[in-house]
Amino acid sequence: MTDNNKKRGFFGRILDLPNDSPKKTIIVAFLLCLVCSILVSTAAVVLKSKQVANKELDIKKNILAITGLLSDGGDIEAAFKQFEVKVVDLESGLYADIDASSYDQRKASGDPALSVELTSKQDIAGIGRRAKLATIYILKEDSKIKQVILPIHGYGLWSTLYGFIAFESDFNTIKGLQFYAHAETPGLGGEVDNPKWRKQWQGKKAFDQDGNLKIEVIRGHVDFKMAGAEHKVDGLSGATLTSKGVSNLVNYWLGDHAFGPYLKNMRSAAEN
Ligand SMILES: Cc1cc2nc3c(=O)[nH]c(=O)nc-3n(C[C@H](O)[C@H](O)[C@H](O)COP(=O)(O)O)c2cc1C
Repeated sequence: MTDNNKKRGFFGRILDLPNDSPKKTIIVAFLLCLVCSILVSTAAVVLKSKQVANKELDIKKNILAITGLLSDGGDIEAAFKQFEVKVVDLESGLYADIDASSYDQRKASGDPALSVELTSKQDIAGIGRRAKLATIYILKEDSKIKQVILPIHGYGLWSTLYGFIAFESDFNTIKGLQFYAHAETPGLGGEVDNPKWRKQWQGKKAFDQDGNLKIEVIRGHVDFKMAGAEHKVDGLSGATLTSKGVSNLVNYWLGDHAFGPYLKNMRSAAEN
């Protein structure tokens, strides 16, 4: 190696190579990949906590929206303080004595010790397993329950839809339904986010007078003269599979294997 080459150093020598040299191409490509991967991983690590905080804020925003408490430019954290967050044991339908702020239902659903596996007959929502405990949100007025918001999730056509269903104080009349995460096709299954479609859920009755679960998303439009119209919601046109998925997931979460026992307990408490 000449003295001149030594002075140029490794990078200098690489840059001196002709542009069509395979050695130069490979080294430049490698260095470019290295720099980009360092940038991407640094951004992922640095922004992780911000992403988590933003996701939590988005969930709170959705809960406020479904209950009609979201105001333009309002302080989400302050408004969310109106909710009492509780954990329900789904099997007994009773409140579990654990700190709701330290419980992560989504994480628990993947932990065999904290979740149950669903049989194919039970698993109409296509979720495989569900956490034994569920986090719910209660809105009170004069110490009486005014609304209760329950988390729901299940498979549509392309993705798992995550959202909430809110009930009024009779634990039967639906106040609203809203998804905060899914990957259904915009304009087709993605119409689950359409405010016009979501509005239809308001006032629907999930259960009939005998306590049987009746709510469903039908194919086509609901004729208000049809029997049981108070339990039916229009299907999304061109998105029968997503509509069926939503109907199934709502039926799973309100059914005997999920929030059914809790809702039954609360309905009888509300009637007495
Ligand atoms: C690119 C593409 C995206 C689609 N996305 C959805 C969707 O998100 N949800 C859905 O139910 N159907 C979707 N479909 C349509 C389904 O394949 C299927 O045809 C439809 O659910 C049948 O509904 P219909 O009987 O109301 O037409 C999509 C179709 C195509 C070609």
